[in-house]
Amino acid sequence: MPSEDLRAYSDIVIEHFQHPRNAGVLADANAVGEDRNPVCGDHMKLMLRIEDDAIAEARFQTRGCPAAIATSSMATVVLTGMSVDQAAQLKRQDFVDAVGGLPKAKIHCSVLAAAALKKALASHSQSSPVGRSA
Ligand code: FES
Repeated sequence: MPSEDLRAYSDIVIEHFQHPRNAGVLADANAVGEDRNPVCGDHMKLMLRIEDDAIAEARFQTRGCPAAIATSSMATVVLTGMSVDQAAQLKRQDFVDAVGGLPKAKIHCSVLAAAALKKALASHSQSSPVGRSA
C-alpha cells in the first residue's frame, strides 16, 4: 500500500492508526460481521463476544487505509461494554465523530465499521435462541 500523507487526519485518527486497539482474532466470538468497500477493496472483519446482552469484548481485522484502521480500532473501544441495543443504534457518523472527524474524501471509510457492526449484530440475533421464533 502506498504511504499516505497523514496530515489531513485528526490526532485521534493518527494515534489509532499507529497504535490500533483490539486488533486480531477473537477466538470465542459469538457475533461476526465483515464488510468490504467495493470501490477501494478495503475490508473489515469485526468479532464480538456478547454476554448478557452486552458486548464483553471486541476485536477487528482490517486491511485498509488509515481512516479505515482508525475507525475500526475506535469502534472496538466504543463497543466494549456497550449494550447490544445501544450498539444497534450506532451510525456511521458516530464513528466519524469518535475519531475527531475525517477528511471529506475519507468519510466513506467509516462505512466499514458501521456495516460490519450491523452484520455482526445480525449474525448474533440469528444464532441466539432468543432471536428465533419457535
Ligand atoms: S480508502 Fe478504502 S476504506 Fe479508506
